[in-house]
Amino acid sequence: MEQRLIVLGATGSVGHTTAKVVRSLQGRVSVEGMVAHHNGEKLWELGRELNARWVGLTDLAGASRLKTETDGHGPRILAGMDEILAALADSPKARVLAAMSGFSGLIPTLAAIDRGMDVLLANKETLVAAGALVMERAQISGSQIIPVDSEHSAVFQCLRPDQPFRRIILTCSGGPFRGMTRQALAGVTVADALQHPTWNMGAKITVDSATLMNKGLEVIEAHWLFGARYSQIAVVVHPQSIVHSMVEFEDGAVMAQMGRPDMQVPIEVALAWPERWAIATERLDLAGTSLSFESPDDETFPALNLAREVGRAGGLGPCVMNAANEVAVHAFLEGKIPFLDIVAMTRAVVEGWKGPSGPLNLEAIQAGDRWARAMAQDLISARS
Ligand SMILES: NC(=O)c1ccc[n+]([C@@H]2O[C@H](COP(=O)([O-])OP(=O)(O)OC[C@H]3O[C@@H](n4cnc5c(N)ncnc54)[C@H](OP(=O)(O)O)[C@@H]3O)[C@@H](O)[C@H]2O)c1
Repeated sequence: MEQRLIVLGATGSVGHTTAKVVRSLQGRVSVEGMVAHHNGEKLWELGRELNARWVGLTDLAGASRLKTETDGHGPRILAGMDEILAALADSPKARVLAAMSGFSGLIPTLAAIDRGMDVLLANKETLVAAGALVMERAQISGSQIIPVDSEHSAVFQCLRPDQPFRRIILTCSGGPFRGMTRQALAGVTVADALQHPTWNMGAKITVDSATLMNKGLEVIEAHWLFGARYSQIAVVVHPQSIVHSMVEFEDGAVMAQMGRPDMQVPIEVALAWPERWAIATERLDLAGTSLSFESPDDETFPALNLAREVGRAGGLGPCVMNAANEVAVHAFLEGKIPFLDIVAMTRAVVEGWKGPSGPLNLEAIQAGDRWARAMAQDLISARS
């Protein structure tokens, strides 16, 4: 049966790879809707090519520009989050691929979950900021959350429903600065940080990979997705990005999922699950390939421990950390703060958080996110 798909974050790196997978699947998946922030030109091009029924821009000005620039032939154009949420509600049979970047993914992802729609989740920040709420709502509505992040897709593929696991072992490329000292890190540039050794991704996640905050976010994501205690989630640096992650079972057996570093596979796995569909990808050839593993350098890259700390403490700490990190990464990309300040500033915001530890409803999460963004902005202003 043909599957209907809505892509949130269609113009980004995961969005583009999803379009490639949809083309490769030749009719198995039809695109219902595509959402972006302000890149109307790209969204329109993709929407027309993939025959989407509608395209939506969250940015109102961008949407009205797109309406005037297009000739009326092609997908319906939606303007702003309210119209996008209404279209989501009108398509309860579609599945939603959540690939917006950052906290912006939370509201539409929750809306899809509340409708009982299956969510293919790339947007890890949603689970970091609001894991308890997201998982609780998914349980109530019966929405299935299928991971797209390559590490979590690997764990998802290795897990056996009836066999308890002992540990989840997330692999980590180590990013472009693996092996460097803090002294050397003090002088790295934006261009250096954007040179990921194995993956080609959007700017925010690429910088997160350089600080190792990405792995910290993924530890929290794994906690929520798989119900793992933090003590059960290990991280190992694996520079070749061939083993995407592993699961250790009670008897000591370890299952690993391997493949070339190519997001097409985890996207296809999520689309096809529990089946597997053929796609046109370059295949893994292990002959002549050396695989190596080492412990993360927590002294040089403190983000991983920060994420573990806030994850263990629970409450709104992960939401606050996520928001501060988003602001700090943005400031680094704009040349306003040096690389090492990203995690230092994020920690300072987390340590300044004295918010309530009451129920984590959406309002509290949004308030925590706003507070952390304002606090992080203040720190940036004070430094510049
Ligand atoms: N890239 C990867 O290989 C990869 C792998 C695993 C997980 N992920 C996760 O997937 C998510 C997307 O990553 P990416 O690398 O694809 O990011 P990206 O290339 O930066 O693309 C982000 C997408 O989100 C849209 N967007 C940004 N801000 C928005 C807002 N405020 N409201 C609505 N839409 C917004 C962008 O639209 P415009 O183009 O209009 O700005 C774009 O379509 C992230 O959470 C990331 O951690 C990515």
